[in-house]
Amino acid sequence: MELTVVVPTFNERDNIVPLVERLIKVLAGTDWEVVFVDDDSPDGTAEVVRQLAQTDRRVRCVQRIGRRGLASACVEGMLTSAAPFLAVMDADLQHDEELLPRMLEELRGDGLDIVVGSRYVEGGGVGGWSRLRVGISAMAGRLSRFVVKADIADPMSGFFMIRRDTFHQEVRRLSAQGFKILLDLFASSPAPLRFKELPFQFRARLHGESKLDTLVAWEYVNLLLDKIIGHIVPVRFLMFAMVGGVGIGVHLAVLAIGLRAGGLGFPVAQATATMVAMTGNFLLNNVFTYRDQRLRGRGLIWGLLSFYLVCGLGALANVGIASFIYHSDEPWWLAGLAGAVVGSVWNYAMSSVFTWTRRR
Ligand code: GDD
Ligand code: MN
Repeated sequence: MELTVVVPTFNERDNIVPLVERLIKVLAGTDWEVVFVDDDSPDGTAEVVRQLAQTDRRVRCVQRIGRRGLASACVEGMLTSAAPFLAVMDADLQHDEELLPRMLEELRGDGLDIVVGSRYVEGGGVGGWSRLRVGISAMAGRLSRFVVKADIADPMSGFFMIRRDTFHQEVRRLSAQGFKILLDLFASSPAPLRFKELPFQFRARLHGESKLDTLVAWEYVNLLLDKIIGHIVPVRFLMFAMVGGVGIGVHLAVLAIGLRAGGLGFPVAQATATMVAMTGNFLLNNVFTYRDQRLRGRGLIWGLLSFYLVCGLGALANVGIASFIYHSDEPWWLAGLAGAVVGSVWNYAMSSVFTWTRRR
């Protein structure tokens, strides 16, 4: 086995057969396999892959349940491989499979760690992209300079081939969040990666639709933050705390409205504000902080109830600690702050275990 092609999939059922046919063609004469890592696509992608795999041992399927994420799918696919070379490519035929044999040729030479399919070197391109998307992509590229020191033209590419030993040297440092696995690899490497870029034309999608939505920008910021300060404090906690900050604003706004416009008594207004803020925090955390484990349907209801419970206990801990410190003759603000910190750490830790459990 010389090469494993890892293909992350989410709702790509119609692209599987054409992609495998093309791989068979361009990789003739090479010992290769393809591993599809599917996040339990509702369209039954995994079933299509397994059907192919029944008659072709080169095709394999890893089906992940209750998980989402392009980067982590690629990492887990690569971990299933014993081949010396690992390629990552999209399922939708936007990446030019003709590049694979040439990438392999380059890597066999021993002088390189990674070969990147690049849209931004001479001969490459993005075809029919709108001006807006070209602009966004360029902007993201500039931001990446904060964490990637290598002079690579297309650090956002999702198409590359890497030596397996290089991958294993850095796998434990990867953030594996969001879409940008290549950027992650470059930013996490202990030594500068020896790389080469090969140009290709980013094609139009064959079937299905893109999963890249507006929240991908948010994930990208997460990845950059994780690379910059992730070794000091988990980015998820930062986000959780930021949502908590928004929650305080919501709380005060609802309280003010309840008191002034609603004519409620203070305890009722405060209780209403607390419920609204908790519910709002839960929904925001579900979309932003735990995007990769987003709860839906019945899971959303149970999640919300468990979140109320966790935060209720967090509030008790908060008040208990704060009162204790206050009665030890410390200043009021120190007592208040300590209570708030203990409460938020509690809420974060407990909700990560009981609310976003990865299993629902
Ligand atoms: N397992 C898994 N889980 N696969 C996913 C997920 C997920 O949550 N989200 C997307 N994929 C798969 C898709 O099924 C597809 O095979 C591939 O990842 C790329 O997803 P697209 O939705 O087609 O992304 P794109 O074409 O908009 O973005 C591509 O270009 C970007 C550069 O502009 C990707 O190659 C990106 O990696 C790349 O950065
Ligand atoms: Mn695509």
